[in-house]
Amino acid sequence: MGMNSRVLHAEISSAPVKAAKIALLALATAVIAGVCSAQAPQANLNIQLDKPAHAVSPTLYGLMTEEINYSYDGGLYAEMVRNRTFQDHGWAGVGRWNIEHNGNSVASMAVDQTDGPSPALDLSLAITVKKADPANPAGVRNEGYWGMAVRPNTTYKGSLYAKTDSADIGPLTVMLVNDNTGMPVATASVQGISTEWKRYEFTLTTGKVEPSAENHLLLTVGHAGKLWIDLVSLFPPTYKNRENGNRADLMEMMAGMHPKFLRLPGGNYLEGDQIDERFDWKNTIGPLVDRPTHRSPWNYQSSDGMGLLEFLEWSEDLHMQTVLAVYAGYSLKGDHIHPGPELTPFVQDALDEIEFATGEPSTKWGAVRTKLGHPEPFSIKYVEIGNEDQFDRSASYEGRFAQFYTAIKAKYPQLQLIATTPVHRTKPDVVDDHYYKRADEFFEDVKHYDTVDRNGPKIFVGEWATREGSPTTNMGAALGDAAWMTGMERNSDLIVMASYAPLFVNVNPGGMQWESDLIGYDAISSYGSPSYYAQAMFGEYLGTEVPTSSLTGGGDRFFYSVTRDSAKGEVYLKLVNASSLAQPVEIDLTGASNVSTTGTLVSLAGTNDAETNTISTPKRIVPVKSMLASTSAKFAHTVPPYSVQVIELQAK
Ligand code: AHR
Repeated sequence: MGMNSRVLHAEISSAPVKAAKIALLALATAVIAGVCSAQAPQANLNIQLDKPAHAVSPTLYGLMTEEINYSYDGGLYAEMVRNRTFQDHGWAGVGRWNIEHNGNSVASMAVDQTDGPSPALDLSLAITVKKADPANPAGVRNEGYWGMAVRPNTTYKGSLYAKTDSADIGPLTVMLVNDNTGMPVATASVQGISTEWKRYEFTLTTGKVEPSAENHLLLTVGHAGKLWIDLVSLFPPTYKNRENGNRADLMEMMAGMHPKFLRLPGGNYLEGDQIDERFDWKNTIGPLVDRPTHRSPWNYQSSDGMGLLEFLEWSEDLHMQTVLAVYAGYSLKGDHIHPGPELTPFVQDALDEIEFATGEPSTKWGAVRTKLGHPEPFSIKYVEIGNEDQFDRSASYEGRFAQFYTAIKAKYPQLQLIATTPVHRTKPDVVDDHYYKRADEFFEDVKHYDTVDRNGPKIFVGEWATREGSPTTNMGAALGDAAWMTGMERNSDLIVMASYAPLFVNVNPGGMQWESDLIGYDAISSYGSPSYYAQAMFGEYLGTEVPTSSLTGGGDRFFYSVTRDSAKGEVYLKLVNASSLAQPVEIDLTGASNVSTTGTLVSLAGTNDAETNTISTPKRIVPVKSMLASTSAKFAHTVPPYSVQVIELQAK
């Protein structure tokens, strides 16, 4: 019908006297009928608050991420310098770096494959300055990840490794420069560069400048000579001021989802295209200069600045459990390691990884973590063995899973082990199911888990999403997601955890490898898709138990879930109307002596399925909170077209 559903937020009152209630309902229905030409058939929702069907899994909603869509480099990981270790180079030049000449200065650059500051970083950028003077400096500039975000009165922390063949090369001037004016917005000087590799630090502090992403980093010298540089790094202030930390805006957006766990480090990113491109965690810890970086299966080099310890600290910062996925001997292009002695070193790597995360400082790997500044062990309950091993056509997963399972359980019997596809030789504690669907397919499949055997493994829906809209999803996708979440909540005795994927996308051209993502951003700003807000609503109003309930009538695309937090005396009704018609529903709460006469209504609504948020219109569809007047044990409500709503009631 194409009307703006937000006009329907006027709530229908229920009066204590039945006749009055009916009159009010009739009036409200007439009002709605006046606004919309038609509405969906009446629905009746009966909720027996004194009859809990089962508990809600307290860890139901969490996060899944990996290095895809520039999620870490160019995303969450706050590093501003792109290609900081020069691994991206080839026929097209040195990726993201350019020579800068001023006046009559002359310089050239090339990757030196024979010299770097460490065995891990064994190449560097050699800059040959043939001619320069302090008034006509020469050097290189870095364009960042589609620019560099500069804000007023802010200090940026920089560092680089450098050496020179000439003691006369003079100081290295480092500047953040506005792309449009060519004017520096912050300047620093690095002195005393010698003929040996050494790390130098600098700070760049802006003054009263306009916030902008259109900036670059410029490194210049004012004398002739040869200069080698590597691991050139620049960080803005990070979330909780962590060194080598994360973008605050994206951390805050995740916090808004009330996530209970973080599944890390992937996804395909765990596996790599080839075995030697897997997430080899031992190469991702320690000083950045000792991290060799690696190619990710999403076709760009990962800086590995977001290493295992950073992942764990990210979980800690957002008070999430870690769901640790360990590499299990299968990579995406089909290579696998046979179960048996060949797999043993990989199993040992997984045991070491668990010890690194959870071991006391007295253990070998716990001591390494302690040395890196985190003596307190992280608490881990779930370990996932591999990723999407149903794609391993060699059928080796039965054997690989069994080998990992036996070794991990022997050392860590308390851990819950997750299989990535059903296995039969060993009974996993949990199986990870993935769903990427259109909204209609989710509507059809909402009862998927209603009849699944409760005596088998628990379920982790480790990746799922309604794939509609790009780069981030639209309102239609949010409706598919919300419908699917009602089914997951109803089955949260079986489903212990669920995580949407992918979480992040850099919306700049070339930033996206996977269409339909949850949170979009560029160098300076970020926004949530309608799906993000649906997730946030479900995460906030989780509840602790699912009361017995039933729905009769209603349109075909009307879905609901009801949960309760009996300790708080709160009931959460989640109502999803994925139709173009308003959905009237009569809600009947039994088994509570006292239902509040007002409630809170949170409503996320669009005008149609295609409506969406973008980087330039980030708040077109956001949840709107209002008071719901005159609720009672029985009351009528109308769910607007294309909307996801949560009603919070007090009921004791
Ligand atoms: O989320 C994108 C990809 O989808 C994941 O990397 C993989 O596990 C799945 O196939």
